[in-house]
Amino acid sequence: MAILFDSTSRLFTLTTAHSMYQMKADRYGVLLHTWFGMKGSGSAFDYSYRIAYADRGFSGNPYDAGEDRTYSLDALPQEFPTYGSGDYRSTALKVRYPDGTFACELRYLKHEILEGKYSLPGLPAIYDTLPGVSSSNTKADTLVVTLEDTRQMFYVHLYYGVMEDLDIITRAVCVENHSGEDIYLENLQSVCIDYLYGDYDLHTFYGRHVKERNCQRTPLHHGVQSVGSTRGTSSHQYNPFLILSDRDATEDEGRCYGFSFLYSGDFIGSAELDQYGQTRLLLGIHPDNFCYCVGPEERFYAPEAAMAYSEHGLGTLSRIFHKAYRSNLCRGKWTRTRRPVLLNDWEGVYFDFDGDKLVQMAKDAVKMGIELFVMDDGWFGKRDLDVSGLGDWVVNEKKLGCTLKELSDRIHDLGMQFGIWFEPEGINEDSDLYREHPEWAMQIPGKAPTRSRQQLLLDFSREDVRDYIFSHICKVLDSARIEYLKWDLNRSLSDLYSAVLPGERQGEIMHRYVLGLYDMLEKLIMRYPDMLIEGCSGGGGRFDAGMLYYTPQIWCSDDTDAIERLSIQYGTSFGYPVSTMGSHVSHCPNEQTGRITPLNTRATVAMSGTFGYELDVNTMSEEEMETVKIQIQEFKEYYDLIQYGDYYRLTNPDNVEAYHGWEFAAEDGSEALLCIVALQIHPNGPGRWMRLKGLKQDGNYLVDGQEYPGDVLMNGGLLLPRATEEYESFRIHIVEKC
Ligand code: DGJ
Repeated sequence: MAILFDSTSRLFTLTTAHSMYQMKADRYGVLLHTWFGMKGSGSAFDYSYRIAYADRGFSGNPYDAGEDRTYSLDALPQEFPTYGSGDYRSTALKVRYPDGTFACELRYLKHEILEGKYSLPGLPAIYDTLPGVSSSNTKADTLVVTLEDTRQMFYVHLYYGVMEDLDIITRAVCVENHSGEDIYLENLQSVCIDYLYGDYDLHTFYGRHVKERNCQRTPLHHGVQSVGSTRGTSSHQYNPFLILSDRDATEDEGRCYGFSFLYSGDFIGSAELDQYGQTRLLLGIHPDNFCYCVGPEERFYAPEAAMAYSEHGLGTLSRIFHKAYRSNLCRGKWTRTRRPVLLNDWEGVYFDFDGDKLVQMAKDAVKMGIELFVMDDGWFGKRDLDVSGLGDWVVNEKKLGCTLKELSDRIHDLGMQFGIWFEPEGINEDSDLYREHPEWAMQIPGKAPTRSRQQLLLDFSREDVRDYIFSHICKVLDSARIEYLKWDLNRSLSDLYSAVLPGERQGEIMHRYVLGLYDMLEKLIMRYPDMLIEGCSGGGGRFDAGMLYYTPQIWCSDDTDAIERLSIQYGTSFGYPVSTMGSHVSHCPNEQTGRITPLNTRATVAMSGTFGYELDVNTMSEEEMETVKIQIQEFKEYYDLIQYGDYYRLTNPDNVEAYHGWEFAAEDGSEALLCIVALQIHPNGPGRWMRLKGLKQDGNYLVDGQEYPGDVLMNGGLLLPRATEEYESFRIHIVEKC
């Protein structure tokens, strides 16, 4: 059993294949956090021996500790610290009681150990089994520890999912009100981890539109360091994935702890180095736009977070998340079936198309082996620019020159699948929907709303609004053969107000909005189980583990420049597998940067994601079309290796001197694909080598007909071809000799 409870010491020990997590209800019933890290022998040794008790000035003592001045919540490592009762660090829970006060203390009440992984109502969660999908069966157990508020008004149920083989432990929280009165949650974090000592670096992933998930690594200093989003989405600006690592941790060495939030709305991730040199890490919903009323006998669930530990550096940590998310978070047919190579028309034609033009593009695309044609923005309502039409999900047959069915049939007749773009949450003031229902848009009566891309957002916390949009989307989807849907969102939330919530509940909108989004996505995938859905928010503005539960791939960035993409995909790879990263080859000079890169390099980069093209294929030369044909054949050949293999970051594109490299290795080490992009060319420059990873030490490998032992390739490295043009790239296949 991966969960052990020692009833004498009230010690909980949770073990996965390579990690251990431990907590203990102490003599006062306070749930102490005692360990997260090395599994060692796996024995449930009580790590609370490390806690130093001392009489410390200005760190008070709970009443039940009597005269013991060495017992202070301000200094103890806790599993779920609360606000207002003597712990002055950042805390995991702040509750407004019916009398208006906030001071809260929790004590251990009971626990339950259950077989299998828990799920959460209306929220994404890693799963152990999916009905009808035997490949999803993974060993998992659940621990639910119940704490009670010392004023006996509510329970806090702490959920732990122990995914033994995946090396993942998940956490979620449920607050159950039994007071008979309303209580208000003003802060509820999903994860809290207290580290007694250690010098750590905090790794966060920051960015902006068209430049998402840049890596930032900073040593912790005293005080609170935090990243988060108050935009209503997980955001381009900060990603809800954080790493804490040893200061000297590298890709291959050192202790690292990863924390991933399965949530697509406001979040905060923080690390606090306290007065005693202890570190507290918290991850959960951002409290700024959050105040949730929990009525009598009601329960509130905080979203799930997934945690992993690696003592072999950042690379291993990432691969734990890659595997878990690929196999036990993403759902649906397309997570386990080869996905089609697609052509998206957006950067090719933007709003300027009709049905004939699209069919003409599809004709060339199919010749090159492209399998899915995606009609992006502009096919509905009055939508020839991004200023009108959003909300009117009615096919613009006049613009297309045909019905959607006719268009889809023509594309299918060519042998391609057909996909379509929606932005279900968006609304333009210049739309029939807005003219009919201005109150469905998120805006505060009496205040002019903030526009963004000249649009507003619908109040997705409202079921009636969602039902309306859902029925219109279904009408479109049912009218033709459509195998793919892109779900986009092109602004951040603001002017929070819901016409159907009373004043004291307006603080619930952000969370209700996300629940509404999940509700609609769930309905969509239930109704169209075979449809491939790609998430998107102006590129990667909602690239998070919550969305991956509904959409197995997400458009990674609106920046399609291959060189910029190296950094974006590199940063994204810390927390997410390449099979989730929407990535396309586009025209040169690139639309966003004006940069010119070889077509081959654009493919090398886009292949390291969910491969596709996004350009007007009708403008390509015969030679370019032939090249694309070969690229697609090659991608199909390497598909399993790229999508299901182990991903290794070999260099960091932001500080590499000349050649940037990454690698996909088969789990059994039998083959690998090495990808290289020459970022700089130096005339008469030095030779370049790359050390490979993930091969068999004692295996023999063939590279371009030349034989090498595995340990030689991983230590001596491979001498790389000399680049003769800027941004030239190489894809080098390494196969074990049978
Ligand atoms: C933003 C997306 O990221 C693009 O790929 C494209 O779909 C546009 N929106 C369309 O408006």
